[in-house]
Order: sequence, then C-alpha cells, then structure tokens
Amino acid sequence: MIHETIVTTAACDGRPHIAPMGARYEGDFVILSPFRPSVTLDNIVASRAAVLNFTTDVRIFAGCVTHCATDWPTLAASRVASVRLAESLAHAELELDDLRDDKERPVLRMKCVHRENHAPFGGFNRAQAAVVEGAILVSRLFMLPADKVDREMAYLQIAIDKTAGEAELTAWHWLTAAIARHRENLAASGGPAAELVSH
Ligand SMILES: Cc1cc2nc3c(=O)[nH]c(=O)nc-3n(C[C@H](O)[C@H](O)[C@H](O)COP(=O)(O)O)c2cc1C
Repeated sequence: MIHETIVTTAACDGRPHIAPMGARYEGDFVILSPFRPSVTLDNIVASRAAVLNFTTDVRIFAGCVTHCATDWPTLAASRVASVRLAESLAHAELELDDLRDDKERPVLRMKCVHRENHAPFGGFNRAQAAVVEGAILVSRLFMLPADKVDREMAYLQIAIDKTAGEAELTAWHWLTAAIARHRENLAASGGPAAELVSH
C-alpha cells in the first residue's frame, strides 16, 4: 500500500525542500523511492533525515509539481536534521536506515523516530483526491499520451465540480494551466501536436 505524502528535507545549508512522494510503511520503517535526479534524495543522503507530512492541503501537491507554489512555510523538525511543514495534520520524523542504490530509482529505508499530531482529519474529500491524481498526471506529462491525460482530467473534473472548496479550485487551476503550458511548449518546439485542454 502506498500513501501519498509531502516529504520535507533540508540541504546542508539548511535550505528546505518540499516534494510530494509516495511512502510505504513497514512497521516502524518508511520506504521512499525517489527517481534520480532528486533533490529529496540528495538531501536525505547528506542529512540522513526527512519528514513525512500528512496534509489535506492539496495545493502543496499541485503547487510543487507545477512549480506554481513551492515555498510553503516550514519549521525545524523536533528530533532530526530536517524541516517539517508548518501546517499539517501530523508529521513523522525519519532517519535513514538503509539505502539500496539504483541508477534510476534508489530505495530508502527510513526509521520513524518521532511523530506529532497537529490537527484532526476532517474526512475524505473527492476533490482533494482528484487533485492528487491530477498532480500525478502532471508529474508524468512527458511520458503520457495527451488523449489519456484529457480523458482522466475530464473524469477528475466531475469531483472538482461537485466537491471542491477554494484550496482545491486553486490547485486544480495550477494543474490545468501546467498542462496547457506543457502543450504550448511542445508545439513551440515542434513536438507532437496536442490539443489544449478546455477547462
Ligand atoms: C502524489 C505524488 C506522488 C509522487 N511520488 C513520487 C515518488 O514516489 N517518487 C518520485 O521520485 N517522485 C514522485 N512524485 C513526483 C515528485 O514529487 C517530483 O518529481 C519531484 O520533483 C521529485 O523530485 P525532487 O526530489 O527533486 O523534488 C510524486 C508526485 C505526486 C504528485
């Protein structure tokens, strides 16, 4: 089972880095699998630490993958050499236990050494799930056929229309604008013609 989280890390100079990333849980251990190249990977190797942030603010997922908003407020972690999101429902602080290296996708086994809860979970929201799915599509635009992206975005739009609040609408706008930008860039560079999304 994979949980979609926000991983925060700190560079050697303390600069925070924020990236959506899938996490698998194995007891007290968390498995992360960043594709190279990855700032998250570099920071974890250097600091041997990371934080998993559990948040329903899907603007962070969409903001990071579209580069529309990447500097979300962070605070120093309590126990490890990393940062955490200032606003989250909860976070888990991790230390690197083992690195299985790979030229494409190393596997990081991290030990959870500290947890904090900050706010209650308010329940599932379909628009939030739709934004997370849309963010995954946007992070793979370079490898997905345009018609598949259009079909999936059209389906996800239903949940947005029915259940989104302000934050989800903002996030969704960043995603659709990123898809349009990607296609404009492709067209400008003479790549495969692609229709612009209409939403
Ligand atoms: C929900 C979600 C889950 C993701 N999971 C992963 C992951 O497990 N591994 C990965 O390399 N990238 C994942 N990505 C894409 C990264 O967030 C994105 O490529 C990011 O730039 C990672 O590189 P960085 O460490 O240099 O920031 C995910 C994106 C989303 C929206």
